[in-house]
Amino acid sequence: MQIVKLGLAGFGTVGSGLAKILAENGDWLEKRLDKKLEIKTVVVRDTTKQRGIALTSGTELTTDLARLTEDPEIDIVVELMGGLEAARDLIEKALKAGKHVVTANKHLLAEHGLELFELARQCGKGLYYEASCAGGIPIVQTLRESLAGDRVEEMLGIMNGTANYILSEMTTKSMDFETALQLAKELGYAEADPTFDVEGFDTAHKLCVLIRLAFGVDYPLAELPIQGISGVTPLDIKFAREFGYRIKLLAHAKDFEGRLEAGVHPALVPYTYLLARVGGNYNAVRVVGNAVGPVMLHGQGAGDTPTGSAVLADIMNIARHLHRDGCEKGYAPDNTGFGNKPLAKAKIMPPEDTMSKYYFRFMVADKTGVMAAVTRSMADHGVSIAQAVQKSEEGTEAVPLVIITHSTRAAAAEAVAREMDAMDFTMEPCVRFRIL
Ligand code: NAP
Ligand code: HSE
Repeated sequence: MQIVKLGLAGFGTVGSGLAKILAENGDWLEKRLDKKLEIKTVVVRDTTKQRGIALTSGTELTTDLARLTEDPEIDIVVELMGGLEAARDLIEKALKAGKHVVTANKHLLAEHGLELFELARQCGKGLYYEASCAGGIPIVQTLRESLAGDRVEEMLGIMNGTANYILSEMTTKSMDFETALQLAKELGYAEADPTFDVEGFDTAHKLCVLIRLAFGVDYPLAELPIQGISGVTPLDIKFAREFGYRIKLLAHAKDFEGRLEAGVHPALVPYTYLLARVGGNYNAVRVVGNAVGPVMLHGQGAGDTPTGSAVLADIMNIARHLHRDGCEKGYAPDNTGFGNKPLAKAKIMPPEDTMSKYYFRFMVADKTGVMAAVTRSMADHGVSIAQAVQKSEEGTEAVPLVIITHSTRAAAAEAVAREMDAMDFTMEPCVRFRIL
């Protein structure tokens, strides 16, 4: 039986998850592929580190990344290290050495994807990345293949397992933010730098990758509005519940007659929506195609075997085309879903023009005229109020005043926030989230 040889860069959460599935499902994979997948070499930073899973005998463990690109026997290089420079260098060398590449590195793809896809095209090699977005959910293949005939009108989703886990634990168990983040790290969900998860950057990386696949344009990461969950407090979660919402970190992109509105924000989601029910490390992505209508995918967005499963799907897609004699007759991987042609920059809808309902929480002095001043500011900026609640408590100086608005321009909501923050009765900067 033909053996397809893999070279792994990284043997942490995802690398070991992949190895577990290969060990457990080996017979099944051979049945599907009529080929055997074998990890020939694994590269890590520290070969002495204790790992949860043993490598099969014959697998080389090394710190030398060149062992992957210089070994003619390795067919597919699997980049599971994360980070930018070393990963980029490895992928470039692997493609130039005539190897296919599988990566889970959304940060790298968001920042340098266009150049890497161009290099892969020139080399005629696969650069596959199912695991880079939403962990085990097959969203890349869905957009690139299953929905290829649709014009995508809108995409909305929860794309970060760590942030969703933190918000879920804070909501359902009243766990504090730091404890939930610590648990997410221990469970292998978080990035090496968890600021990426918490501040929305990881979600933004995934959104950039998925926008290319869904809309066929490039939305530069630097221009994407990004807000994370570090400003979400137990008080806001409690108020959101009282109004019938759950707070979720959402990524969204919508086509408005050729202009793209996109961003990453925490938002209040009506608790009856499926997205509000997505808990723990789960992600969900809702895509609306002009022919198929709405499609929703739901599954684990982070963790060892869920992500390993997505990596393995890419490896198998490539392995199917590899022949014993090294010949890959007629195999021209379409890595981008648009024939590897260069993608134009998206026509971007100015973020200040976007429309949304808003949740405002002001912390104000409990005195005459405050409510009148807030409502006057909103009226002056054309912001229409749907609901308002002020919770006074005997003996407390600052009281929360929560206002839910009707749909309004982002610029108007920003102007109200700025005006209120400058008032002498305002005791903390106002909190403002969108409402779905
Ligand atoms: P991880 O647990 O931190 O593992 C990283 C691995 O890469 C470790 O084995 C580390 O070696 C090795 N490594 C890092 N830099 C290296 C270098 N310069 N040279 C050689 N080896 C190096 O990370 P992970 O969670 O598996 O994530 C890997 C990638 O998958 C990242 O791009 C991440 O964003 C992505 N991803 C992760 C998940 C998830 O749920 N964790 C899901 C989807 C995508 P040592 O073990 O010796 O330190
Ligand atoms: N840190 C990421 C998350 C891993 O929590 O979603 C999956 O991409």
